[in-house]
Amino acid sequence: MQHNFVDTLRSTSLKWSSFALLLAVILSPSSTSALELPPAAKVKINYAEHIEPILKKACIRCHGEKKQKSDYRLDSREATLKSGEIGGSIVLGKSAESPFIKYVAGLDEDIEMPPSGDPLTDKEIGLLRAWIDQGLPWSEVAKVEKVEKPKAYKASLKGKAERVTGLALANGSGILAASGGQSLPFRPGNVTLWDINTGKEVGQLPAQASLVWAVAFSPDGTKIATGSYKKEVKVFDVKSGKELATLAGHKNWITYVQFSNNGKILATGSEDATIKLWDIAAKKEIGTLAGHKATVRSLAFSKDDKTLYSGSQDKTVKIWNVAEKKEVGALAGHEDGIFSMSLSSDGKTLATGSADSTIRIWNLAEKKEIKKIAGHKNWVTSVAFSPDGQSLASGSYDKLIKVWEVSSGKEVKSLDGHESAIWSLVYTPDGNTVVSGSQDGTIKIWNTRKRKIMRF
Ligand code: HEC
Repeated sequence: MQHNFVDTLRSTSLKWSSFALLLAVILSPSSTSALELPPAAKVKINYAEHIEPILKKACIRCHGEKKQKSDYRLDSREATLKSGEIGGSIVLGKSAESPFIKYVAGLDEDIEMPPSGDPLTDKEIGLLRAWIDQGLPWSEVAKVEKVEKPKAYKASLKGKAERVTGLALANGSGILAASGGQSLPFRPGNVTLWDINTGKEVGQLPAQASLVWAVAFSPDGTKIATGSYKKEVKVFDVKSGKELATLAGHKNWITYVQFSNNGKILATGSEDATIKLWDIAAKKEIGTLAGHKATVRSLAFSKDDKTLYSGSQDKTVKIWNVAEKKEVGALAGHEDGIFSMSLSSDGKTLATGSADSTIRIWNLAEKKEIKKIAGHKNWVTSVAFSPDGQSLASGSYDKLIKVWEVSSGKEVKSLDGHESAIWSLVYTPDGNTVVSGSQDGTIKIWNTRKRKIMRF
């Protein structure tokens, strides 16, 4: 009984309300009501999919780049919201109150949009309503283009080697040495010389019996040292290409070669976990630094040549007194082997790249880690400080080269273009470009600054 009563009441009030509505419409025909508008679409609006096609078809020819009728543009969110001469056409979040919708639904006495041609369909109006109700979503702001293709100003240098494992740039002359060899370790290895300013090959060192993993120039640029899978270190005269010395003694393959800053000593790292020091003039071993528990992968002399830093697969950097051939300290923190190191030009900061995919920045005076930089997805095989020490470039097994701002640890650039792992990186002395050597057999030269660099 009661139930029926309520029902009756309900239907009565319903009837009454429709009647009132009808009255209102009859009494004031120019006033509009949300109820007369097609309902807002119930989809989550995607600007490109739902809105852009409507505007393009029916509106842009008068409210776009070419014409701005009523000083109104519909080609940016900001302009759409701002309206034109009439103003206030969009009430954000309230499509039923927005004159914009009244115009397209033909519910404004004076203005109908589009003024000529086919009116919008109910479905289209519903989408525009949902668009306004949902806060006028626009296309996602284009993401900052982080991944860059190699700049067109320089194509890659194609080496004869099947992979490029080591790179070195001679001071002043602009000669780049690239070492490598065929994929199988015990197939011939070679070192190719390039002129970095023209991109032309300018020489080849005599072929070696196996892959030449590492290469380094003497500080004066006249000599070049190479380390190979054949456990041999060789020294060549750059101009003539003549072999000056073969230095034998390591028990396993050579991973890194590094001249001291005064050019007198050559330090070599090996899979045998030791470092050897050689007197270049005498072509003689002058000492072995033992202490690492695994392959030594990178070396750096301090500015005064009194200290040598060595990074190893055993996850540590060891600090050696060169004269006494004694370990005087270590830097620990990496969670996997250390592949690469770079000493800042002021000699105060060391950067290390590791198989733990991170880069660490070390304060050498305090022997302390000051920054951990994560971002690569695989081994960081190479790191290089820019000459001013403000940027650091890193190359990875993930095929990418990244450039970081040292002070903040923020990624500045990600350079995508190699088809395989990066093994080595060098900065050009002007700090504008980075040269990379890859497993894919190419050397690429990258613009690391924003502005374009015209070269080659
Ligand atoms: C053929 C040209 C033309 C087309 C197409 C057109 N408009 Fe307009 N629009 C005008 C003119 C002209 C005015 C100025 C008002 C008037 O004179 O009716 C105007 C004014 C407006 C205004 C008011 C802006 C303000 O604040 O001054 C809005 C909103 C608007 N148009 C939306 C649209 C939409 C949405 C479409 C597409 C569905 C559209 N127009 C298509 C010519 C056009």
